[in-house]
Amino acid sequence: MTEGSGVQKRRRDAPAPAELDQQGGETADQTDRTDQTDLTELSSRADPTTLARFDRPRTDDRTALAVFSDPHLSTDKEGTWKAYHRTEERLRSAVADANARKVDGVIVAGDLTEDGRPEDFDGVADVLADLNAPFVAVPGNHDVPKAFDDHETPPVAEFAERFAPEEFPFREELGGVDVLGLNSASSPGGELDATHDGAISDDQLAWLESALPETDAALVVSHHNPPGLESHLAETHYAPHPPVGDSSAFVDALAGHDALHLSGHVHLPAAISGDIRGLVCPALSSFPQAYTLAEIGPEGTTLRMVPVADPEGLEEAHDLARTHSDRSADIAEMVESQLADLPLAAER
Ligand SMILES: [Fe+2]
Ligand SMILES: [Fe+2]
Repeated sequence: MTEGSGVQKRRRDAPAPAELDQQGGETADQTDRTDQTDLTELSSRADPTTLARFDRPRTDDRTALAVFSDPHLSTDKEGTWKAYHRTEERLRSAVADANARKVDGVIVAGDLTEDGRPEDFDGVADVLADLNAPFVAVPGNHDVPKAFDDHETPPVAEFAERFAPEEFPFREELGGVDVLGLNSASSPGGELDATHDGAISDDQLAWLESALPETDAALVVSHHNPPGLESHLAETHYAPHPPVGDSSAFVDALAGHDALHLSGHVHLPAAISGDIRGLVCPALSSFPQAYTLAEIGPEGTTLRMVPVADPEGLEEAHDLARTHSDRSADIAEMVESQLADLPLAAER
């Protein structure tokens, strides 16, 4: 099972990209142009599209953080809906853009590698070394050892040593914000070894419950999303992707705090609503090949989407997603639908 496999179609009524913002009665040529215009607009970095505006967290010290999710870096693979042959270039582009914006820090929300190969971790480390700001990362299901691996995947302790301030969970101050990083991709009992599903261990939940009251402005990061995605998508589109294992306990730990949860894994931008607030970040590797810019200030938190591909690159990613498999086509369709109805959350 890979990410996205839990997304089951309820109703195929999301518009194709050519239909987005389209007036009736257009010719095929006009439709093509509409499609191209949408992709061009999406790939504009000058004024990144607002994904969501939240009331919390807030901080007096204005802080800008870049969130890179699902770079899936591969040093030798081609194609698939994750466009492996572009992954290093896209991550480099994200690093360059984050440097140009002088962000206070970078969060990598998991699936750093295509599938946990040591040479791909080396590739990620090489690219992230160009960041001017400090970075922290949490592992994704593709970064941790699996029972079905046909290669050696480094243990999570090694991941933490290279890409996190300490073993999971961790707390790291970036600008005026505390980033609380959790490992949702492997579990102490090893029960996730045969699956790409997620879980937050009891120890991490207990740690989170004690850490949250001690911080004024927290971003909680795990690769897998907590529940709540359903309420945003289910009405008109699809059943949700499975969230982390013991999801009610995770919600209980987050509820009642001002924290914002950030995740990846699903490869589509979405808001988490209900008792907690969260954002599922768009992926760097697959359509729309973008990172998330999180701006936290006295008024609250704004999340914007920064594309890392040019219009041709975005079109390639879109074509790959629409043609690779039914699942990737479904995910691409959901991405289009989500981006046609922004912001995903507007608490202010
Ligand atoms: Fe992923
Ligand atoms: Fe994932």
